[in-house]
Amino acid sequence: MRAVAVNPSRKSIEVVDHPEPERTADTEALVQILDVGVCGTDREIAHFQYGTPPAGSDYLVLGHESLGRVVEVGSAVKGVARGDLVVTMVRRPCGRADCRACVAGRQDFCFTGEFKERGINGLHGFMTERIVDDARFMHVLPANMRNVGVLVEPLTIAEKALIQVWDVQERLPWTLPGSEDGHASGQNAVVLGAGPVGLLGALALISRGFKTFVYSLEEPDSAKARWVESVGGAFVSAKHNDPQALAKQVGNIDLVYEATGAVKVSFDILGVLGINGVYIFTGVPGRKAPIELEADDIMRDMVLSNQLVFGTVNAGPDAFAAAVADLTAFNERWPEQVAALITGRHDPDKAAELLTGPRRGIKPVVSFAEQP
Ligand code: BGC
Ligand code: ZN
Repeated sequence: MRAVAVNPSRKSIEVVDHPEPERTADTEALVQILDVGVCGTDREIAHFQYGTPPAGSDYLVLGHESLGRVVEVGSAVKGVARGDLVVTMVRRPCGRADCRACVAGRQDFCFTGEFKERGINGLHGFMTERIVDDARFMHVLPANMRNVGVLVEPLTIAEKALIQVWDVQERLPWTLPGSEDGHASGQNAVVLGAGPVGLLGALALISRGFKTFVYSLEEPDSAKARWVESVGGAFVSAKHNDPQALAKQVGNIDLVYEATGAVKVSFDILGVLGINGVYIFTGVPGRKAPIELEADDIMRDMVLSNQLVFGTVNAGPDAFAAAVADLTAFNERWPEQVAALITGRHDPDKAAELLTGPRRGIKPVVSFAEQP
């Protein structure tokens, strides 16, 4: 069967003839892949900066943002049935008995670094016709999510971040559910970057009641700016507004959701984080030149303003479940805008070009089945 793979030693990206997967345990399901999203991580792997084939294979099948349809389930599978639309999680536990995170089923917090990730690190990915996996790593989507379900995985990044935000912001009693303000109402959020992770994060923040500003390089009359406004957010062009100008428009910046991996702007915005603010890093920076940092100002503000900075990667089952529920709700509330995030469906033959050519559109998808 066809699969899109990188061969790091030959430095090639090609459609390979990959062996048909087989169920070997009665807890596993066989899934027909429909759509696979292409993201920055895939592009890094395709530039051979990252990514490791499974032991014994000289190539790695790409793809970790998937949507599939269940073809067959083992006799011990519960909660996943033939015909279901599913998204399969990316990371697998490291398997070490002394890794309390992995033992607890939270390999997204793995201590050892020996976890594996499908399509990234040590396990073949989803950019192929069929896959087999343990059904406990699969999340079922409502049947009407065929068109946009491939966006679940990139949304899990924001979901995991927001689960943690509520945990820490319980320190602010007036934001608790049931209190007069309730959760996010009256709070201001800034999203850095208008790629898929940023825009999905913006939907998550808006739907929770944050007044949400997307800060990105596009022009104020660009398609992305209009998209942000059409879902009830505000777009602030980083081309025309420095961080101080942004802070002036926003007021107290209660939350920053960084989704660029751009070091300079990320730390500049950390400098304007508000009182009691939370700053979330999600982007992995490329290796760039050193930057200058007002470290004493940042440290003073963090202390005197009760600020919190955290990074977050990958996602656990709670975030996947939340992403399925939220994306379904977003798709009801903003059907056109959610669909517009997928800016192209392409044949596997075009994958190499998508992975190595110039970035185009928001979320390009490689499709292995008839288009919805
Ligand atoms: C994926 C994560 C993964 C990370 C690092 C991201 O693109 O969404 O699931 O953990 O890359 O490998
Ligand atoms: Zn571990």
